[in-house]
Amino acid sequence: MQDDRRPIANDPRLAAIRHVLTVNGRSVAVEAAPATRLLYVLRNDLALNGPKYGCGLGQCGSCTVLVDGRAMRSCAIPLRAAVGRRITTLEGLAEGGRLHPVQEAFIAENAAQCGYCLNGMIMTTVALLAADPDPDEAGIRAALRGNLCRCGTHIEILRAVRSAAERLRTAPRGDAA
Ligand code: FES
Ligand code: FES
Repeated sequence: MQDDRRPIANDPRLAAIRHVLTVNGRSVAVEAAPATRLLYVLRNDLALNGPKYGCGLGQCGSCTVLVDGRAMRSCAIPLRAAVGRRITTLEGLAEGGRLHPVQEAFIAENAAQCGYCLNGMIMTTVALLAADPDPDEAGIRAALRGNLCRCGTHIEILRAVRSAAERLRTAPRGDAA
């Protein structure tokens, strides 16, 4: 009886092919298998280490990026699904050499201990405040519910989100990021 199993190295689905992405406003070409998770491409091919590897299962939020302005988990996005979308990472938030007001608020409120969760907290907050400039406490908690902080910095993070909202209402930025 013929054995149809082929060595995994010969599987055409694993072949690296060229993908063109739009990341932080720039068009970039990468060679990788279509199913490669976007997180790996960002970190390993593009040296964008803002998004962090936490669980790799879409459950912790540390790998969050903006996809067309929406906060999404890059560990759960196949590379092929990122083509034609506008990807923004933490590195793409600063404008004219100045940090994003959400980043400034997190720094001002000392909203970190180890800092591992911060990428996800900040990217999710940026998306939240773009959609709702004045969220109430329940709205902030709901938006951040899927972002895990192992250090227990939640009080400072909530304070930073409120401060960021205030900063953005006072001095709005011109983009969706
Ligand atoms: S690493 Fe992506 S959600 Fe945890
Ligand atoms: S500050 Fe350490 S995981 Fe949140």
